[in-house]
Amino acid sequence: MSDKVAIILAAGVSSRMNTKLPKVLHEVCGRPMLAYVIDACRKAGIEKLYVIVGYGKEQVIEYFKDDKNIVWIEQNEQKGTGHAVMCCKSQLADFAGDTLVICGDMPLIRAEIVNTLIEKHQKETSAATLATAILDDPKGYGRIVRDSYGNIQGIVEDGDCTPMQKTIREVNPSYYCFKNKMLFEALDKITPDNVKKEYYLTDALHLIIEAGHKVVAVTAVAAEDAMGVNSRQQLSEAGKIMQSRIQDRFMKSGVTIVDPPNTWIDARTQIGQDTVIEPFTYIHGRVKIGSACRVGPFAYLREGTVLGDDVVLGVFTEVKNSSLADGVRARHHSYIGDAKLGKNADIGAGAITANFDGKKINLTQIGDNVFIGSGSTLIAPIDVPAGTKIKPGSAVTSENIEENKI
Ligand code: UD1
Ligand code: CA
Repeated sequence: MSDKVAIILAAGVSSRMNTKLPKVLHEVCGRPMLAYVIDACRKAGIEKLYVIVGYGKEQVIEYFKDDKNIVWIEQNEQKGTGHAVMCCKSQLADFAGDTLVICGDMPLIRAEIVNTLIEKHQKETSAATLATAILDDPKGYGRIVRDSYGNIQGIVEDGDCTPMQKTIREVNPSYYCFKNKMLFEALDKITPDNVKKEYYLTDALHLIIEAGHKVVAVTAVAAEDAMGVNSRQQLSEAGKIMQSRIQDRFMKSGVTIVDPPNTWIDARTQIGQDTVIEPFTYIHGRVKIGSACRVGPFAYLREGTVLGDDVVLGVFTEVKNSSLADGVRARHHSYIGDAKLGKNADIGAGAITANFDGKKINLTQIGDNVFIGSGSTLIAPIDVPAGTKIKPGSAVTSENIEENKI
């Protein structure tokens, strides 16, 4: 086993979200929260992950079933964050390296911070290291209590704070690195002696401090990265922050986004250089857009859309599960679903693919340089040969394609 592993806590019921879906499967910009946490660990060089699941565990495991480097640990009763970590005891109690502990409801986590935490932990050779954040509104988070020398004394949960402690703005975002053996020794001794009657992971930290071991708290987490998602409001807040990160990444890579607050792009989208995304465009799912395209305003691109280069999609054009070769134009009010369009195909205003016959989805093929007149309906399955010109207002089937030619 390598010298460090991560435990990700994802078993909670999440009463505050008022949901039947496991909290960590709620999506932020198209991906479940847990996926971001897993990515951050991997990017920070941690391969082996122990993910604690409980509520809705079948759904969570199913979603990540292709990831063979995750060890799923079941916590059948949610008795607190300390109890959750304890569920790894039989797998990890004898592990001699370092263990990172992070919560699965923190999608804004970044690999850089995980790296800082690990580096600090190794440099200080501390028994435990935690990364803290300073928040304007610390409500809901565990507060970091320090002595007059600035040494960390412990973490007090929001519900257990005195009025004085409530004013502390330094909080625990739940980014920890422990010497693994000390972690499990301390967990053996914690009790559910608090307002929530839970086994707190933070109490293990207190025991390590009390035993005189070195615990370091480093203020390394930017306020926005500290955000845990406990409510629908926080889910939308996290989504907004993630959206602006995604858009920043695209703009750095040479994509123009005309009106960022009025544009939504899925985390799984790829966009080529010099493409312009016009306002009110919504891109959802695994979508690939080439270079020098113009998309929107008011375009809706869905799962499985692949655009070549120099494609122009205009107002109220919807594309789903289709590939559009270089130079395709569909400027106004089109629906293109389950179709393959050849180079420079021109789709007139309001032309659509009728891809669903009431029972099943059928495919449309449109050859290079095809011109589809405005208001035409292509009734799938259909194959429009290269160079065909379809009259405006046609209802085209594969049988009557000849009659609709200009
Ligand atoms: C926890 C911390 C708090 C910190 C905050 C940061 C403790 C006691 N408190 O509080 O100091 O400021 O996170 O967001 O650790 N979970 C389980 N099993 C359980 C309980 C929880 O897997 O039995 C998981 C949850 O699914 C969640 C994570 O642990 O992903 C944190 O639990 P949550 O109830 O959200 O803790 P907070 O009250 O936010
Ligand atoms: Ca939380």
